[in-house]
Amino acid sequence: MAASRRIIYVTSALPYANGDLHIGHLLEQIQTDIWVRYQRLRGELCLYGCADDGHGSPMMLKAEQLGVTPEALIADMKERHERDSQDFLISHDVYHTTHSDENRHYAETIFERLSAAGYIYTERVEQLFDPEKKMFLADRFLKGNCPRCGADDQYGDNCEKCGATYEANELVNPRSILSGATPELRTSTHYFFDLPKLQGFLEQWTTSGTLQNEVANKIREWLTAGLQAWDISRDAPYFGFLIPGTEDKYFYVWLDAPIGYMAALEHLVAKGGAPVTFEQIWAPDSTAEVHHFIGKDIVNFHTLFWPAMLHAAGYRTPTKVHTHGFLTVDGTKMSKTRGTFINARTYLNHLDPEYLRYYFAAKLGPTTDDIDLSLDDFVARVNSDLVGKVVNIASRCAGFIHKGHDGMLAADCADTELWQAFADTGERLAPLFESGEFNKAVREIMALADRANQYIDTHKPWALAKEPGREAEVQAVCTLGLNLFRVLMVYLKPILPRMAQQAEAFLRVEPLQWSDAASWLGGHAIAPFAALKQRVDPKAVAAMIEAGKAQEPAKEPVKEAATAAIPGQSPLPREDEAAVIGIDDFTKVDLRVARVIEASRVDGADKLLQLRLDVGELGERTVFSGIRSAYEPEALTGRLVVLVANLAPRKMRFGTSEGMVLAAGEGKDIFLVAPDPDAQPGMPVR
Ligand code: 2FM
Ligand code: ZN
Repeated sequence: MAASRRIIYVTSALPYANGDLHIGHLLEQIQTDIWVRYQRLRGELCLYGCADDGHGSPMMLKAEQLGVTPEALIADMKERHERDSQDFLISHDVYHTTHSDENRHYAETIFERLSAAGYIYTERVEQLFDPEKKMFLADRFLKGNCPRCGADDQYGDNCEKCGATYEANELVNPRSILSGATPELRTSTHYFFDLPKLQGFLEQWTTSGTLQNEVANKIREWLTAGLQAWDISRDAPYFGFLIPGTEDKYFYVWLDAPIGYMAALEHLVAKGGAPVTFEQIWAPDSTAEVHHFIGKDIVNFHTLFWPAMLHAAGYRTPTKVHTHGFLTVDGTKMSKTRGTFINARTYLNHLDPEYLRYYFAAKLGPTTDDIDLSLDDFVARVNSDLVGKVVNIASRCAGFIHKGHDGMLAADCADTELWQAFADTGERLAPLFESGEFNKAVREIMALADRANQYIDTHKPWALAKEPGREAEVQAVCTLGLNLFRVLMVYLKPILPRMAQQAEAFLRVEPLQWSDAASWLGGHAIAPFAALKQRVDPKAVAAMIEAGKAQEPAKEPVKEAATAAIPGQSPLPREDEAAVIGIDDFTKVDLRVARVIEASRVDGADKLLQLRLDVGELGERTVFSGIRSAYEPEALTGRLVVLVANLAPRKMRFGTSEGMVLAAGEGKDIFLVAPDPDAQPGMPVR
C-alpha cells in the first residue's frame, strides 16, 4: 500500500521589516525553498510560510527617522521583500506579517495560557532610561567607556577593545546614542517567562532528533549551565502588541516573532490557500510535520524559548530545526566597502537568480559551517556545470532530432544499463535532499551529467549524421541523450525550477515529478531547442560589485543578545563576540604583513593614530590604531606590521577602520608586532 502523503509546514526565519533583503537572507530562503520544492516534487503536501518581522524599537526608530508611521514602513518593506523573494523563485505559499490580527490573537492566547499555567511572573527591573527620548534603552542604544579597560565608544553589553562583557549600568560616562543624553537608572515592572520550569522538557526535546548534533551539543552546554527566566516585556514607547491587562507594556519582539509562523499559516488557511486546518498543523497531537530553517545566530530562540512556549501553552513543538551557518563573500564578512554587501535587488539587476540557487545548493550541507560565496568560483562553477555540462547535453542532441527526424524521439532505449543507472540514482539522491545534503546531491547529479556527455562523445552523433544509412543510430543516440537530460532536470528541479520549466516546454511534457525520472520518453515529438542558460559574464559580476559599493547596506537591526537566558555561556558564535576558538576558527583570521605608508595623528582622539598601509595584493588599507601613547607617527613610516586583514570594517567617529594591527602591552608600553625586515607586504602570516 502506498504510504500516505506527509503534511509538512516549513518556514524560514522572518526577515526584519526595517531593511532590504540581502544575499544572506537569500541563502536561507533558497535552502528552504529547495527542500520545500523537493518535498512537493515527491508528492508530499508541503506548505511554505514566511512573514516580515515587524515589531521592535528599531522599527519604531527607523520610521521616526524617515518621518513615516511604523505601519507605513513595514507595509512598504513587506512589498519589497515579497518582490525580491519571488524574483529569486522562492515559492512561499504565504508571506504574512507579524503585525497582523492573527498574530495578535495567537500572541495573546499563548500569553494567557502561559499565565494560567503559572509560567509568567512580574518583577521590578532597573534599567537605563533616556530622559530626552523618554524611553528605556536596550544595550545597543548605549555607549560609554568600558568599565574594565576604559576604552571609549563601547556599547552597553561588551567592549570591542578588551572583549569584556558587562551590564549596561556599569558603563562609565554612559550616553544614549539616540539623543546623546546621559541616561538615568530607573525601575519598571517586567514580565518574565519562567523558562527554568521547563528545563526537563527542554532536555528531552532537544535530544529527541529535532536538532543537528552540533546544535544539540551546544544546547546541552547551555542546559547544563542552567536557564534563566526570559524577559518578554518592553516598556512604552515600543512598536508591538500591548500585553493584555496593561496599558504601557508590550510583548518583546522575539516573543511574537516565532508566533508569526502560526499566524502565517492561519492566514493561508483563512484565504483558502491550503487544504489543511490550523489544528491539523498546530494541535498538540498533530501528525503533521513542522520544520524551521534558521541561521545559527538565532538558535536559542528556536530551540529553547520557542519550543518551551509552545509546549507550555498546549501546542505541538517543531519536528526539526534546520540550522545553517553565516554567509561570507570571498572569505570575509559581507562588506559595503568591498561591494560584497549585496542586496537581493542588486544581484537581480545583474544576474540570473538560478545561478545563485545553483551555487548555494552546491555548497550547502547539513552542518552549521559558514558558506562562502567565492565570486570566481561562482562564475567557474555555473559555467562549467550548468552550461558546460547540463545544457550542453540538450544542445548537442536536439538539432539532430529535428534535422532528420521531424523532432521525433526514437521509441526505444539504446543503452538500458546507462539509462537504468540514471533512473536508479534518484533513490540515492532522495535521502540527500531530505537531510539537506544538497552539496552531495549536486555532486552526484554532475557526475551523471559527465556520464551523459561521455556517452555522446563516444557515439559522436555529428559524425554518424554524415554517414548515409545511419540515421536511426543518430536518432537513438540523441534520444537517449535527451532522456538523460530529462532525468537530470527532474533531479535539478528543486534547485532550478525555471530551467526545469523551460526544459518541460522544450520536451513538450507535463510538469516533471520525481517519479518521472524512472519513465522513458520515446516516440514523442519535442519542440525546437532554445538556449536554456547563458554563461555567467564575469563583467556582470564586476558590475554588481560596483553597484554594491554604491548602495546603502541593508542595516542589520538590533538583536537581543543570544545569551539572554544562558548566563556565562557562549552561544553558537556570532561574528561580533569573543569566544573560545578552535584551530578552524583561528585559521579564519587572515593575518598579513603590511607596510606603513603614512601615519598621522587623529584630531579629537588622543589615543589613536591613523595608519595607511600597503598590504601587497590586498591593496591599501586605512586602520585606526590605539598606539599613540607609545609611537610618534613620523617614526612609523616604512615599518612592517602585522594586519588582521579580514576583520569587519568598523565605523568610527573619524572614519572607517579596515582591520587591526597587532601590538602587545598597554599605555606607554605598547609594542607593535613586526615581522623580520625582509618580509613583503601582503604575505600571509601563519
Ligand atoms: O534574526 C532575525 O532576522 C529575526 N527577524 C528572525 C525572526 S525568526 C522568527 F522567530 F520569527
Ligand atoms: Zn574594554
